[in-house]
Amino acid sequence: MAALIPIFSLLLLSSAVPTPASGFATALDPGLMGLDLGKEKLSHFRFYWHDVLSGPKPSSVRVVPSPSNASATGFGLVNVIDNALTLLPDPGSELVGRAQGLYSSASQEEVALLMIMNFAFVSGKYNGSGITVLGRNPVFHKVREMPVIGGCGVLRFARGYARVTTHTFDPKTGNAVVEYNVYVLHY
Ligand SMILES: *[C@@H]1O[C@H](CO)[C@@H](O)[C@H](O)[C@H]1NC(C)=O
Ligand SMILES: *[C@@H]1O[C@H](CO)[C@@H](O)[C@H](O)[C@H]1NC(C)=O
Repeated sequence: MAALIPIFSLLLLSSAVPTPASGFATALDPGLMGLDLGKEKLSHFRFYWHDVLSGPKPSSVRVVPSPSNASATGFGLVNVIDNALTLLPDPGSELVGRAQGLYSSASQEEVALLMIMNFAFVSGKYNGSGITVLGRNPVFHKVREMPVIGGCGVLRFARGYARVTTHTFDPKTGNAVVEYNVYVLHY
């Protein structure tokens, strides 16, 4: 019995002491990364997202069609996008970035897309930085909201949401221009 006690206390000790630095994970002082915790900035971005399916150079391509005509919601379809993000609804207005990713019809009840997008900005101090949006987009609702789940570059540690409204939609081509208002907390 007496021989067991030292072994037992050694086990307790080893669980209380942090593992020696293995290079895998280390606690850091946020200040070392220039982060002032509790002092995040809130930024509002407004731009227009151009989903172009028609014409000689579509920026949105149907890589998987809905497997059945039976679905009025296009359930199962997948589009890959490299959509322009512009300052104004006019596609010829200033390019502020591109929305790269994909969307898929993921509802059998109504047209609701699963959106997975990286917004790669090219404008001003945001050039080279970006945010990631992942959310549900019931496209025929007047206002939809999707989470911003992260960011990179000057938008590191971003989180927030996008409120989106369709500006124009052409049912013949499927082309759409959608207004994005994105609110992001970041350092
Ligand atoms: C889909 O609908 C079209 C026209 O309504 C029809 O010609 C085609 O056979 C249908 N396809 C399937 C897989 O049901
Ligand atoms: C953005 O950065 C790229 C690469 O660093 C550069 O080539 C481009 O001119 C920049 N664009 C703007 C609008 O500043």
